[in-house]
Amino acid sequence: MPTDSSFKRLAIQSRKNLRVWVEGRPVEVMEGDSAAAVMLAQGELPTRTTAVSATPRAPYCMMGVCFECLMEIDGVANSQGCMTPVREGMRINRQQGAKTLKETSALDKNSTSNKSSKNNTLNNNDILNEANGQDTAIEPKRTVVEDTL
Ligand code: FES
Repeated sequence: MPTDSSFKRLAIQSRKNLRVWVEGRPVEVMEGDSAAAVMLAQGELPTRTTAVSATPRAPYCMMGVCFECLMEIDGVANSQGCMTPVREGMRINRQQGAKTLKETSALDKNSTSNKSSKNNTLNNNDILNEANGQDTAIEPKRTVVEDTL
């Protein structure tokens, strides 16, 4: 739902034209534009809604400080639009609320749980052993303090 934009492009002829997709629509942009600038120029506001209260937001500082420009770029949520230059064929979409985490593989889950139970002593051999189905349990170290008095 593009709205009338108050942003107007300056006449610059030296940059190459590219085509990106904004909310599924093809849009001609110029090389060097940021994804956030494209959304503003197209009047695609708001560019996101917040995760908790669904408050509408839009790019503000355009220099990587405020993080109000988070959007979905090429399928990657929480991309910082003002710091992302456009590429040919880029897909830029609004981000609506919180994104769900993708399901991790069984290896990732095992690695995480084993790491915490072994005080982060998991090494590359442990990871390879897990991938091969071998148990990598490590006995906790015992610390013996001798009484020298
Ligand atoms: S607009 Fe502020 S960080 Fe992108």
